[in-house]
Amino acid sequence: MKVGDKHYRSIWLDTSTDEVNIIDQRWLPHEFRVVTLKSLDDFATAIRDMWVRGAPLIGATAAYGIAELMRRDPSDKALNEAYDFLHATRPTAINLRWALDAMSSTLSALPENQRQEAAFKKAAEICDDDVETNRMIGVHGLEIIKKIAATKKPGEPVNILTHCNAGWLATVDWGTATSPMYHAMEAGINIHIWVDETRPRNQGAQLTSWEMVGNDIPHHLIVDNAGGHLMQHGQVDAVIVGTDRTTSHGDVCNKIGTYLKALAAKDNNVPFYVALPSSTIDWTIGDGLKEIPIEERNGQEVTHIYGKLENGENTFVQISPDGTPGGNPAFDVTPAHLVTGLITERGVADASKEGLLALFPEQKSVA
Ligand code: MRU
Repeated sequence: MKVGDKHYRSIWLDTSTDEVNIIDQRWLPHEFRVVTLKSLDDFATAIRDMWVRGAPLIGATAAYGIAELMRRDPSDKALNEAYDFLHATRPTAINLRWALDAMSSTLSALPENQRQEAAFKKAAEICDDDVETNRMIGVHGLEIIKKIAATKKPGEPVNILTHCNAGWLATVDWGTATSPMYHAMEAGINIHIWVDETRPRNQGAQLTSWEMVGNDIPHHLIVDNAGGHLMQHGQVDAVIVGTDRTTSHGDVCNKIGTYLKALAAKDNNVPFYVALPSSTIDWTIGDGLKEIPIEERNGQEVTHIYGKLENGENTFVQISPDGTPGGNPAFDVTPAHLVTGLITERGVADASKEGLLALFPEQKSVA
């Protein structure tokens, strides 16, 4: 999407330097910094410390991390060690394993002297596929928004609530949950987005709001606790969120707090949609609560908060007493029965094994 007048992806190979660049998301929205990742360690740090984040982008970054390594050491040993090293950086988003598997199976079938070129080609393909996949999610999600718009009085916006950042910054481009929003804007539909701040790291406040501002999408930033109240008062027409891992039975694991939004949505008959590329489906598991590892992050993300001071300086401040430890489970699982539909690149599926397999029949042998 555009930043100012320039089109950016969240990760790209700079053809003039042959180096991989990312937008370092830690400093948004107050500073726009582009960083070059030069070694396997850089790629691992960027994922672990959330310079890049969001399930699809984590996968794309890992793919380029493997490619970068192939320049230095294309051996099987290096490939296998890098797989394990990168895989350990963030445990919940399945796109990481998916992208590493794709790289590994492509490269291990080739002699060492062909691996570098093939690795960069495959990483670029993963990125391009992600862009097209997310575009298609937008095409299918647009139909849902269109239907809701048709039930509104003239001039009234379709109010959509979203949690965390499942935007273009979380993918290579377009985003998952935001792609239907961008498509609705292009189609001239009147929409308004409720952006959950998404404590502790505030991806909603810092990243989704920044995307909304950059694309002129009407929105309000709300505290995480406001969604239920807004739903009770008819001010939310639909919830659309992303997911870091979806089971073959349609349970979805997303940023902490998503489950509470789904409960409130169910209680208020608000449709709750989850937008996802099929690379986010873990076909090998069925029960999200029992089988998805939930990342536990540093408690400092809870006790401290990043922002801009009145004097313009960007900094972290402590919001709790000295000595209070932060507890920080980063994701939760929303069971399939709370999900109205899964918006994928092939269409909208019921959140069930049957629903998913109807769209992805080639997975029948795995699921
Ligand atoms: O911890 P993060 O910022 O990586 O978490 C991101 C999310 O939870 C997103 O909603 C999810 O990855 C879907 S992204 C299209």
